[in-house]
Amino acid sequence: MIPEEKVREVAERLSIVEVVSDYVQLRRAGGNFLGLCPFHNEKTPSFNVNPAREIFHCFGCGAGGNAFSFVMKIEGVSFPEAVKLLARKAGIEIEERQLTPSEKKSQDEYTQFLRINDLTTSYYRSVLLNGQEGEPARQYLVNRSVESNISEAYRLGFAPDRRDGLVKHLKNNGVDLDCALKLGIIRKSDAGWYDLFRNRLIFPIRDARGQVIAFAGRVLDAALPKYINSPESPLYHKSSVLFGLDMALPSIRTGSSVIIVEGYFDHLALYRAGVQNVVATCGTALTGTHAGLIKRHAERVYTLFDSDNAGKKATIRSMELFLEQRIPAYVISLPAGDDPDSFLAGNSSEAFAALRDKARPAFEYFVRSLLAETAPDSVDSKVRIIDDIVPRFRKIADSVERDLYEKEICRLLGITVHAFRKRMGGGSLSKPSITENQNKPALPGNNIQDTLLALLLNYPEARVEIVRAGLETFFMDDYLELAQLLLDTLDGSDSSQALSHLAETLDKPELKTLFSRIMVSDGYLADIEWRSVLDQCTRSQEKKQLSSIRDIAARLAVLDANSDEYEQLLKQADSLRTRKSKL
Ligand code: GTP
Ligand code: MN
Repeated sequence: MIPEEKVREVAERLSIVEVVSDYVQLRRAGGNFLGLCPFHNEKTPSFNVNPAREIFHCFGCGAGGNAFSFVMKIEGVSFPEAVKLLARKAGIEIEERQLTPSEKKSQDEYTQFLRINDLTTSYYRSVLLNGQEGEPARQYLVNRSVESNISEAYRLGFAPDRRDGLVKHLKNNGVDLDCALKLGIIRKSDAGWYDLFRNRLIFPIRDARGQVIAFAGRVLDAALPKYINSPESPLYHKSSVLFGLDMALPSIRTGSSVIIVEGYFDHLALYRAGVQNVVATCGTALTGTHAGLIKRHAERVYTLFDSDNAGKKATIRSMELFLEQRIPAYVISLPAGDDPDSFLAGNSSEAFAALRDKARPAFEYFVRSLLAETAPDSVDSKVRIIDDIVPRFRKIADSVERDLYEKEICRLLGITVHAFRKRMGGGSLSKPSITENQNKPALPGNNIQDTLLALLLNYPEARVEIVRAGLETFFMDDYLELAQLLLDTLDGSDSSQALSHLAETLDKPELKTLFSRIMVSDGYLADIEWRSVLDQCTRSQEKKQLSSIRDIAARLAVLDANSDEYEQLLKQADSLRTRKSKL
């Protein structure tokens, strides 16, 4: 553990401009420094660093934070690692803090867990490599053309067909069996301790640092279940682990892209063919946590799922996650009936590269597969297709992309853009999107909530006024959440340090982006009369809300009063009226 004072000392000693300049060429532009964003490709600079605030923000891709977040993102390291890196740069020595007894206990247990997994890995591995018991598994690997270098890279093993082989091995090595029980690899019954895996080929599951955190076991024949995985444990949370990430990281860094597959053997097949930027989910659907993990390491993601129906569903579901997290996603399509393993068994790696080069944007894939299912040949079917598209379409963050897809969708469906937008429910009913104004710095009246948030940040008197009227009167959604956090942070201290620190603690990506954007773009508020700006904001807000109440009323008039949407809109209108009356 790095003591908090040390972290603050490092933050104080280095300016963010100094840190960023090691990676990005910056030039002064008003109160900010400006450069080409290192986190996405751009030709004109939209990457801003605010030296007074110690915050950076890119108006192009939404990346933002303080010096630590910058280093974490650009070096792909954890927070403590980033602190250590910068401490070295600042010439500050870091001794890790003495652990408290309970921290010490959990660290000891953690070390125990890792040791148990290492012992388990080498036990299964030695059963696979040596002796009669491993013969069926060795034969299986020969049949699937898994050679010894590949078997070694994955540290494959074999769990023999015995009740308690692993139990005995762990016991002989002085392991506390109750500790191993917590990892789920052995179990206890009235008849004594026994192994989880029997007669299965073993894939150790490793974290990004290469430490074994769990195991998966595959049968050698057609028996069911095909795989069993060790259960969730203090080391293993399957919804946040990507199998093979440790092997893939070097190649992900070079190419900035990652391929996601569903199976352990799919991973192996690609790796064997020399495609190394591959990760697999561990027998679970892709989650938002997975997507976040991918975003930390790659700029672009390819999904490569089976060509069957389940694979298609998984592809579309993952597209939604990538849209939400704004990761450009592409779909590699395999010939019908193939999975990655079978494709590479019959084709060269060049043939695979050709498939990858033909990968289509995930959203396009989605629209095309909808159309393949339902021909848009009647009003009814068109409506159904559009209703499927709309919620996903809303998640496309990039406005240029949205424009292009809108045209494409309308062309494919043979409808007008006007009709499509109407079905979308009109701009005012969709959630205000943060990205909408991303290329323009906020100006009074441009985005009211931006300005209000900036007022709250810069003028203590305005803050008092806003708090008195109630935050909900001025802010909604992410803005409301952030306004509350800002108040808590500013409470008692006005230091830019505290604000810069806030950038580290925000974990919702939308809040992070919003925060860093406000922090680098509120320069226009430096010399203003806060009261008149606040009044101006209040008036425009009122006007806007009036018009959205009108929009809602118009829509309510044509909706079925029993529908969910009706119900929802009614609530929305009510809350708008309440807010308005407070203003
Ligand atoms: P092969 O069929 O041997 O090529 O293996 P595969 O790894 O490609 O498996 P498959 O395509 O059948 O399934 C994809 C992934 O889903 C697997 O790698 C597992 O993670 C998971 N999976 C498949 N079957 C089961 C099962 O019966 N139980 C569990 N828990 N997971 C499974
Ligand atoms: Mn498969």
